[in-house]
Amino acid sequence: MYESGVERPSSLWVSQQKMKNQITNALSNFFFEYETPRQVLVRNRRVGVVCRLIQLLVLAYIIGWVFIYEKGYQSTDTAVSSVFTKMKGVGYTKVDGRESVWDVADYVFPPQGDSSFVVMTNYIITEGQMMKTCPELPGKHNCSSHADCEGGKLKRTGHGQMTGMCVNETHTCEVLAWCPIEDDRKIPDPPLLMSAENYTLFIKNSITFPLFGVTRSNLVESVDAKYISQCLYDPKDSPLCPIFRLGDIVNLSGFNFSTIAREGGAIGIVVDWTCNLDLDVKKCKPKYNFHGLYGNPNETDKARASVGYNFRYAKHYMEDSKEKRTLLKVFGIRIDIIVQSLVIIPKCTTDSSVCGIATVVCDLVLLYLLPKREFYKNMKFKYTETHEESFILNTRCFPQQELN
Ligand SMILES: *[C@@H]1O[C@H](CO)[C@@H](O)[C@H](O)[C@H]1NC(C)=O
Ligand SMILES: *[C@@H]1O[C@H](CO)[C@@H](O)[C@H](O)[C@H]1NC(C)=O
Ligand SMILES: *[C@@H]1O[C@H](CO)[C@@H](O)[C@H](O)[C@H]1NC(C)=O
Ligand SMILES: *[C@@H]1O[C@H](CO)[C@@H](O)[C@H](O)[C@H]1NC(C)=O
Ligand SMILES: *[C@@H]1O[C@H](CO)[C@@H](O)[C@H](O)[C@H]1NC(C)=O
Ligand SMILES: *[C@@H]1O[C@H](CO)[C@@H](O)[C@H](O)[C@H]1NC(C)=O
Repeated sequence: MYESGVERPSSLWVSQQKMKNQITNALSNFFFEYETPRQVLVRNRRVGVVCRLIQLLVLAYIIGWVFIYEKGYQSTDTAVSSVFTKMKGVGYTKVDGRESVWDVADYVFPPQGDSSFVVMTNYIITEGQMMKTCPELPGKHNCSSHADCEGGKLKRTGHGQMTGMCVNETHTCEVLAWCPIEDDRKIPDPPLLMSAENYTLFIKNSITFPLFGVTRSNLVESVDAKYISQCLYDPKDSPLCPIFRLGDIVNLSGFNFSTIAREGGAIGIVVDWTCNLDLDVKKCKPKYNFHGLYGNPNETDKARASVGYNFRYAKHYMEDSKEKRTLLKVFGIRIDIIVQSLVIIPKCTTDSSVCGIATVVCDLVLLYLLPKREFYKNMKFKYTETHEESFILNTRCFPQQELN
């Protein structure tokens, strides 16, 4: 009992020491050794001829099939893509006690569902414009006498043709124009259509790689009608949902919605297709990225000459057999959908499967079929004692050393 009690800690100590040795060995092996592949030159006609023949065949295949017939080298820039968009949501305004409801037909320009369109978020409306004479806006075409207004002349920044009269009340020249003249000196703040934040955008995008006969749509397998009816894009939770809230798009592009909605701006939505056609085509899925393009109402951008995005749009109508129009100066978020694609195809490089065939076949011939295969095997592989062997050796040595 007593003796075995002494024995046990010592054998424990031995095995601990052994472990320590092994770990230090492994570490020093790792840090102080370097291994490099050994190459063996084989002077054997059969292997040589087989190898060269296969290499020739592979070369012919690469040049003839991949490059000339399939044009495999021009694989990246041939995608054909189409984008269709649809906005949903309703806006409500109450300006000077007048209520209006704005639906998709009113706030999306153009209405066709293009990949580039504008969602109106703010506007200046001038109703009942008619072709007649009226004074210019205060501050434009100042005059103190009729002599300051040259009759029949046009000013590039003005609104019409000068009649040669100076209007007493406003001290501006009288012009022939669409009157009353739009007064856009004050942009409504907060934006009239803040409700645009909650509108949604649906993107349908299909992409075809004609060379490879692959067609994909952003409505991938997991996106079905039921999912679409209730999902909303979220970069983390639902990155494949093709329905985007406008407020989220603006936020993800780094803009502040209320600022961009006031004066307008442009946002790019990049649909990124990076497809590895080596893998299952179902793994080829789109990724959405959002970028502010311009109109960034940031402090640094305030210095720029032109901030925001706007354009004018007129609706013409007849009243009492006179032509009239309603003019809208539209401030909005312009959305550009950009489709990017990159196809990764099985290209022939030295490591790829096609070109590696020659090496594999020649090695097979060399190591398994030739009469002198044992000799070549010995040349190609340097045999070492296995880990188990050295372990047994160690345990056998230990007690002997202890005895000494
Ligand atoms: C025109 O007159 C208005 C005051 O009536 C003044 O504020 C403005 O600076 C003048 N503009 C020019 C270009 O002289
Ligand atoms: C313009 O005002 C001046 C004096 O302020 C007056 O003498 C002149 O008659 C006025 N002209 C018109 C067209 O009203
Ligand atoms: C958008 O919708 C949310 C929740 O439905 C609501 O709380 C918010 O006020 C809406 N935003 C605007 C600008 O109407
Ligand atoms: C605004 O400008 C600041 C630096 O002035 C910058 O750090 C920030 O990222 C900018 N914001 C956007 C949305 O570009
Ligand atoms: C956006 O801008 C408005 C006004 O400039 C400001 O009140 C609001 O806090 C900003 N929102 C964010 C999220 O920065
Ligand atoms: C985007 O939204 C998050 C959370 O609602 C907010 O903290 C962040 O300031 C917003 N970013 C911008 C640029 O408004």
